[in-house]
Order: sequence, then structure tokens, then C-alpha cells
Amino acid sequence: MLPELVTSIPGPRSRGLAVELRAHESRNITYVSPGFPVFWERAHGPNVWDVDGNRFLDLTSGFGVASLGYTPQPIVEAMQDQAARLYHAMGDVHPSAEKAALCRRLSQLTFENWNLGPGKVILTNSGSEAVEAALKTAWLATQRRGVLAFNGSYHGLGYGALTVTGRSLFRDPFKTQLADFASFLPFPICQHCPWHAPGREPSACLPDCMNAFLRQAEILLAKGDIGAIVVEPVQGRGGEVVPPGWFLPLLRQLADQFGALLIFDEIYTGFYRTGHRFASDHWNVQPDLICLGKALTSGFPLAACVGREKIMDAAWPESTGEALHTSTFLGNPLGCRMALQSLELLEAEPWSERVEALGHHLHSGLLKLQETSRHWGWTRGLGLMRGIEVVDANGQPDPARTGRLVEAMLARGIIILSGGVEQNVLSFTPPFVIDEAELDFALAQLTEAALRES
Ligand SMILES: Cc1ncc(COP(=O)(O)O)c(C=O)c1O
Repeated sequence: MLPELVTSIPGPRSRGLAVELRAHESRNITYVSPGFPVFWERAHGPNVWDVDGNRFLDLTSGFGVASLGYTPQPIVEAMQDQAARLYHAMGDVHPSAEKAALCRRLSQLTFENWNLGPGKVILTNSGSEAVEAALKTAWLATQRRGVLAFNGSYHGLGYGALTVTGRSLFRDPFKTQLADFASFLPFPICQHCPWHAPGREPSACLPDCMNAFLRQAEILLAKGDIGAIVVEPVQGRGGEVVPPGWFLPLLRQLADQFGALLIFDEIYTGFYRTGHRFASDHWNVQPDLICLGKALTSGFPLAACVGREKIMDAAWPESTGEALHTSTFLGNPLGCRMALQSLELLEAEPWSERVEALGHHLHSGLLKLQETSRHWGWTRGLGLMRGIEVVDANGQPDPARTGRLVEAMLARGIIILSGGVEQNVLSFTPPFVIDEAELDFALAQLTEAALRES
């Protein structure tokens, strides 16, 4: 359904709640401005209603979580049933049947499906913690302290995940306390080639770039201290950056050659966001450990680190009663049930086809949008994970304009967010249940909003 605005944005109730929140929540959490935020009251499909009765079209899937749209009936029913029966258990002591079922299902969908034997799972409460579980696994398995990570990456903000996150915005305030086990290499972003090849699409990437990357990676890995390579197969919050075709196969080769474990962070890209079940399927490369979250549950704080059985069992000793990595809410039954139901829905329909078709439509729309103003830069992405850069008159990143566009779109009833290392990418990660007319409407609104800005 298209947006319907009954009051100005934000309306009076949202404005009142923002004042209340400002008084009691740490001021660094929720961004408040005259045009932001709206407080959500309910949501269905790709739509959200705020406390003032305005209906919005959500192009974010709520940070990539609601891939199936909001409140699909089977998930609501599963939650209601589970909540009435059991919504807390003793995760690492006396767990629920749902936890066992989810671990089995995650093994099937990953390592078993890749014919690499069973997978073993560590469930966590956030994506950040899933990355930390993978880092701990790699350390225990290899006894090598170093981790190779990438500029522009986002793996979460817990101290462990932040250590491998390649964004100075998040790192700098804490850098004195951050451990120094991560080494960063450039992520091959073809539109702004770190090795200074002229801007181009990934398919036309120069072999020189690959060789330049290879030289840098070999120097690092040859020191023998790197136990893990952690990478988003497509950078999400870094601005929908799709690497060239050589990148993931080369990482696999380097990990094997130098005895490091390859960790794919598919927390954002997993479960058909890019058109395939996992983004890494586009290049047919398999990791040793995979981190999953967001769309996994459709909306419960639960994520997972899944690893090849032989690696997990080599790393982690049998529990003697005190788990080395766990938490109070580990394997929460409600979260596990939501994940099982979400996975059933995600696997039951040909989402790949729909996401690819809608993604193609969105991409064509973004290419047309590019023509309408000199303030649009590169557009890129895969499936329903796409972005377009916003630039100033000199073609430089324009984060201020990007922020104004996000607010202008909200005022037009469309929820969209900015991303990218320079905060100048408008990101599109809509629910898969959005339709072409809704995407066209959003793009038409964006065209108008941008023209008013110029
Ligand atoms: C690729 C990736 N990894 C990890 C995370 C962190 O997940 P969480 O916010 O659940 O800690 C995110 C969050 O956006 C992400 O996009």
C-alpha cells in the first residue's frame, strides 16, 4: 500500500514522544531533529503506521530484518503459540526443543547443503555477538591471534566485533581500548578503486587490482599470524558494495594456502536479500564459518555463528557444565520458533526469482533516477540490496544532502536510510513483498525530493 499521511511528519504524538525519549534515553542513541523520528505503532507487509496514524512505505525492512514483510500471519501465529507455552528456557543448561530444531535446520541450510558435512551452531543474541563467536572459534582452532578484515566493513559494535569493523566513525572514540589483532585491507569497491583504476563496473575490473590486492594480502598472511579472514561478501552498511568476481574465490584460496579460517558475515546479506540464499552463492564460494542474523528471525534478537563440524569440534572442548561462550537468553525459545517459521517461509517460495526481478526493476529505476540530477553518483547492489550515491556539484560525497533527502522522504511517507563509509549512499533494502508500483512510487518521490534540493 502506498503512503497516506494524516498529519505533518513527525506528527504531534511522535514529537511528544521524542521529547520524552530525549529526557530519558542516552542522547547518542536515537537521532532527533525537527523532521525525525516517527514512533511506530504497528506494521504489516511493507507498511508501517506511526502513533499519529500516518502510513509509511518502508524501504529498509527495519534494518534488513523484515524480508518477509511485517507481521506475516504464520509468524504471528507461531509467536502466539510459543509465547503461550514457553518463552524462556535455560539456553545452555536445560534448553527447549526449538533450540535443537533450529541448530539442525541451520546445519542443513549451510554446510550440509554445500556437501561439507554437518555444521555446528552457536546461537547468540545479536549479530555482533555472532561475529565474536566466530572470532573466538578461529582463535581456538588456529591459535593465531591476527584477523584480516576490510576497510568499510561493519560487523557490529561490541568490542570484539568493533575490533574487526573497518569504520573509523565507530572505532575512533574507543580506539585506545580496542585490541590490535585486526589488520585491514581495502575492500575492492570498483566505483572508487582503491588501486586507482578508473571508475567502472565490477565485471570490467582490471586484473591489476586483483594483483595489487594479492600482493598486499600475501605480505600480511605470510607472517603466519593471521587465523581468520572476516568479510561481508557484499558490504551492506558500507554502501551496498559488490566486489568483483575474483574477490571471494581469491579469499578462499588465500585462506587455504595460509591456514586461516574464512568467516563470511552474511548477517545482512543472508536469506535471499541479494537474490541467492547467501550472497556468497553468487560466486559459489563456501566459508569455514558463517554468521547469520537479521532476517533469520523476522524480528527477534537472535543470530547465529555456524561452522564446519570439524572446525567447531577442534576449537571448542566438550562442555563440562560451564560454557565458554553463552548468555542468559541464548537460544530463546520464542526466537528459535520465529527463526524456524521464518526459514520455512523463506525456503517455501521462489524468493530468488522475485528478489532478482524486483531488484532488476529497482536497478533500472535507479539508473533513470541518475539521469535526473547531477547530484546522483554511482548506483550499485544485488537483488533487493541496492544503493545510490549522493554527491555535491564537484562529484564529492555529500552526506548533508543525503541526510536531508532521508528526512524529505520521510515527510513524503517513505522510510529510507543512508549508508556508506561517507554516509552519502541512499540504501534500498525493502521487504520482498513490496511490488513494482510501490518501488516506482518511491523512486518518483525521490526524484521530486532531489529536484527540490537542487
Ligand atoms: C554485516 C553485519 N554484520 C553484523 C552486524 C551487527 O548485527 P547486530 O546489529 O545485530 O549486532 C550488522 C548490522 O547491521 C551487519 O550489517
